Amino acid sequence: MSTPPLQPFLWGTATASYQIEGAVSEDGRTPSIWDTFSHTPHKVERSETGDIACDHYHRHREDIELMRGLGVQAYRFSIAWPRILPEGKGKGNARGFDFYNRLVDDLLAAGITPFVTLFHWDLPQTLQNQGGFTNRDIAGWFTDYAVKTIQSLGDRVTNWIMLNEPSVFAFLGHATGVHAPGITDLQAFFATTHHLNLAQGAALQALRSINASWKLGTTLNIHRGVSADGSETSAIMAEKHNDLWNGCFLGPLLSGAYPARVLHGLEPYIHEGDLKLIHQPIDFLGINHYFRAYIQSKPSALIGYEQVPPPSGLPRTSFEWEINPGEFRDVLLEISQRYECPPIYVTENGAYFDDVLSVDGKVHDPNRIAFLDGYIKAMQEARGRGVDIRGYFVWSLLDNFEWASGYRPTFGLVKVDFKTQRRIPKDSYFWYRDHIRQHAE
Ligand code: FCB
Repeated sequence: MSTPPLQPFLWGTATASYQIEGAVSEDGRTPSIWDTFSHTPHKVERSETGDIACDHYHRHREDIELMRGLGVQAYRFSIAWPRILPEGKGKGNARGFDFYNRLVDDLLAAGITPFVTLFHWDLPQTLQNQGGFTNRDIAGWFTDYAVKTIQSLGDRVTNWIMLNEPSVFAFLGHATGVHAPGITDLQAFFATTHHLNLAQGAALQALRSINASWKLGTTLNIHRGVSADGSETSAIMAEKHNDLWNGCFLGPLLSGAYPARVLHGLEPYIHEGDLKLIHQPIDFLGINHYFRAYIQSKPSALIGYEQVPPPSGLPRTSFEWEINPGEFRDVLLEISQRYECPPIYVTENGAYFDDVLSVDGKVHDPNRIAFLDGYIKAMQEARGRGVDIRGYFVWSLLDNFEWASGYRPTFGLVKVDFKTQRRIPKDSYFWYRDHIRQHAE
């Protein structure tokens, strides 16, 4: 299997631009598909939007102070494409670049290593109007954006993540339609899946040719599907889900091929040379893991099945996500055994539990502490069995805008009072701080 780590293991936290920044129409930023979606009534719970979110755009220094107090060595954040390129392509926006330059400088001054995600779903609306990821031209648009961004920050930022969870973006955005851009169309889903891979491959190739010393990777959401009802049909659908959700992204990137069973859906979009372009070497693979997916056959659904909550009796978070650290360990083992896998960073892991501000002014969140403790131990077990993992990022630093669920699901180590923007570190924040102190490598 893999060689031992050459650099220290990094403990970190993660966020994403639309979920925390706010300031959606400041300094030349134009709308993203998430602005459009959240401003469409009933798309997001309580019709909440990211207009203000954690106001991180104005409070990033305070948030870096929180990270300094936490003692994290790394921070994963994403760039809002429409801040950098308000037209989606072409002319860059100096004020947009300024914000990320300040953020990077302040992180480095605090001794925190930035991991920058280029695409965490906030596509400029103007590009969506031209088809977004269903349009093959997205490969060029994304590369243009990636090159301009890295030219601005790449003298100080080494670690670059091309995409965040393309499977979620393709599925929820284009098949079930519960995320922006809210499309429910099988062809759009397959086109998007392929074009995400294509855009990633084109950007990786371009960036690599500019500077070979950047560490380039991407982040996939990996979970395994199991039959929810024990039936043979659901078991077949669970296999299909594994192909569509994991295999369609792991396969072409790490082995140069799509899973044979779902190839027919993608074939109309694959041009000669595409698979070669997608099969680029990467320096690291980011893995986000949250739960095991219970899959129920449903012939009337667009893809023939749906994901349902875990069977009763199993431990779960307030999001109805199964708590199963052993599954996390096994996912890490399986990926490293099945593929020629570069070093892994766990770029997201964490849990939503309903938090209460207690009378003593604190947030006691023993559930989250137990969750993190269990999942970190599971990751360490995988490392002990040879999986080359170089870092772990808790999702998330702050409570934030949880996509279609709005502000209800609280994932933060720090509670945010969205009326006052007051930040209140939870017990889990202090637990993670102590964990980092005790386990610095
Ligand atoms: C992941 C997303 C992240 C956050 C967590 C809870 O799928 O990447 O933005 O919403 O789930």
